[in-house]
Amino acid sequence: MKASFSEKEINPLQSIEQWEDDVLVRYPAANQPAKAKEEYRNYEDTKRESVKEFYRLNHTYQSYDFVTEKKNEFLKFNRKEMPVWNAMEFLNTLVDDSDPDIELDQLQHLLQTAEAIRRDGHPDWFVLTGFIHDMGKVLCLFGEPQWAVVGDTFPVGCKFSDKVVYPEFFSHNPDIDNEKFNTKYGIYSHGCGLRNVTMSWGHDEYLYQITKDYLPEPALYMIRYHSFYAQHRENAYEHLMDDHDREMFEWVKKFNPYDLYSKNPVPPNVKELKPYYEALIAKYLPSTVKL
Ligand SMILES: [Fe+2]
Ligand SMILES: [Fe+2]
Repeated sequence: MKASFSEKEINPLQSIEQWEDDVLVRYPAANQPAKAKEEYRNYEDTKRESVKEFYRLNHTYQSYDFVTEKKNEFLKFNRKEMPVWNAMEFLNTLVDDSDPDIELDQLQHLLQTAEAIRRDGHPDWFVLTGFIHDMGKVLCLFGEPQWAVVGDTFPVGCKFSDKVVYPEFFSHNPDIDNEKFNTKYGIYSHGCGLRNVTMSWGHDEYLYQITKDYLPEPALYMIRYHSFYAQHRENAYEHLMDDHDREMFEWVKKFNPYDLYSKNPVPPNVKELKPYYEALIAKYLPSTVKL
């Protein structure tokens, strides 16, 4: 049976970008200008409560069974089919109101991320990964609650680490009383590898499942684990990783600063950049994606 949520429980944030702003507070860029620091402090005062509520809901409902249910629901990909560029434009219809700090839309964030990667001379599949990495946020357009689309991700099926942001809210998660799930390893074993680990549900896992047959493996790791801050920043789930994960996480770590720190008030020229990205899409991805 599906739980029903009130509007406030579906959208605790005024904008889904609020959680990323919160990530920036937690992991500021080393060379961040003083003005930005001041802005983030103000942000903290005004938005901290809604971000906290967002994580309360996220940590309460993201249980092993919830993830299984969401996978059954969304990995059928029976909602829409369209070319990738159109999917990005579809994502861009996700307009958040009431947040004066947000000048950039989804497409602009994705282009800025990708262009920063391109400027640094990385391979083209890395640039493409930067461009599409948040495409999974279309889940919001299918009526999914914000806390089932964005936010830090973490493994389910084993003990929640206290290195995950707001760990105290896991006390409301049903898995905490389930002895199958509440030990250090839970249903997993030492070094079993992340491919055997179920992550909390959101835009990362969803897009990974969409792209898994088409992109090089480092790209797939970046897509699948880019919100897994408890590992790529805090190393909290080392005990579940194998050597291959460790090698691939170097790429996840390489990607993260482009995602977090490439935001720039100057909007990219979408029209000018479109042909380059259309060609990249055509090189790696099928002519249409199923959402
Ligand atoms: Fe993301
Ligand atoms: Fe992003």
